[in-house]
Amino acid sequence: MADGSEPEQQRRAPPDEKVPMRKTKKRAKTFPELLEAVATKLRPPFGILLGSPGEVAELLPALPEGDVACYQMDLYQADRLREHLGDQAGRATIEMHADLWDTPLPSPAGRGEEGEGEASDVLDLPPHPRPLSQGERGGFQTLIYPVPHGGERALKLDMLEQAFHVIRPNGALIVLSPYEKEDFFQGALKKVFGKVHAPMDGDGKVLWALRTGERRRRRHEMTYHVRVDEQTSYCFVSRPGVFGYGFYDEGARALMEATELTEGQRVLDLGCGVGTNGILAARRIGPTGSVVFADSNVRAIALAELNARAIGVPNFETLVSHTLTELAPASFDAVLANPPYYAQGAIIRLFIERSQMLLRPGGTLYLVTKRVDTTWPTIQEFFPEPEMYENRGYVIFRSTKT
Ligand SMILES: C[S@@+](CC[C@H](N)C(=O)[O-])C[C@H]1O[C@@H](n2cnc3c(N)ncnc32)[C@H](O)[C@@H]1O
Repeated sequence: MADGSEPEQQRRAPPDEKVPMRKTKKRAKTFPELLEAVATKLRPPFGILLGSPGEVAELLPALPEGDVACYQMDLYQADRLREHLGDQAGRATIEMHADLWDTPLPSPAGRGEEGEGEASDVLDLPPHPRPLSQGERGGFQTLIYPVPHGGERALKLDMLEQAFHVIRPNGALIVLSPYEKEDFFQGALKKVFGKVHAPMDGDGKVLWALRTGERRRRRHEMTYHVRVDEQTSYCFVSRPGVFGYGFYDEGARALMEATELTEGQRVLDLGCGVGTNGILAARRIGPTGSVVFADSNVRAIALAELNARAIGVPNFETLVSHTLTELAPASFDAVLANPPYYAQGAIIRLFIERSQMLLRPGGTLYLVTKRVDTTWPTIQEFFPEPEMYENRGYVIFRSTKT
């Protein structure tokens, strides 16, 4: 508190006052424990939708026999999942696509594709010749969604919408949400799937729903405009799960206001999100310049590409990477970075270290952050004379490679 006094709630009770018993917090159930409540619903082929690598690896042995596909959107997470799977790796494939509904669907049971021919209790295709719906063409019989602690609501909704289209008719989506009571999923599942079942006394931690009928594909897309001069503004498409969903980040704006670029330069948009920084840079470097958009999130890369094409960036490439080792050393004139704060500064460090390697002598890293304490010593480790500017409440480091 500003006056230095103790906040009311922290004062000790006088000795004769009754002190309430301290409540011990109940341990959240693990995903495999929650799965037991729907054991009778588990039929292959299985899909596991997102989930942290450790938790997905824990879920796998709790599933009955059958193929499993694990959908991930970020390459770092996917690589960690591969490590966590260890000897279970043969049992599961890891699928990375910008959209869940782009995941290759298991062929429908009983249709005998590629000699699979398993008895079907879910499909009874009508004889009349009409185009097969996505569901009839195949899909997961059981899709499991281990919901993370916290996380973006719009992404959860987007995943439910997309889940519908990768489940076969009468297949089930099972939502496991051990961390908090999820009123959200009851309503959201009802909207997308219709009927929702809550087997554990309706506490909302385990929910399941069946796919019945058809549904139009719906994206939770948001667009926003960024003014580039008096006459022109650029329109950016954003989707859940990618930084800058529905808004132009103020840090990114501060970064681009402080960045100096010249015609013909080669620019790296490092951790590009929907690609705003690289696209705004492309305008300044002109048709002889070029941009590389790099991000670990496949949906981010899909959006950067979509936006760069729509706005007409003449020369660009995209790269899905979380190590950035694929790029040639000393090949960029400028790197633009707005690194995330998670992972205790490890990504800030990675971005700085890789930038040092990727810049040509005389090339410049522009990095925006509010984490000055963690960034400053790292920048100094890799660049001899970094400069620091303040803009819009952010700090921009400008560091030139000698
Ligand atoms: C704060 S966002 C910035 C997005 C965009 N550049 C902007 O300024 O609005 C950071 C981005 O870095 C990406 N990212 C995180 N770790 C990464 C890594 N190891 N390699 C590449 N990109 C990474 C995230 O996926 C995210 O899109």
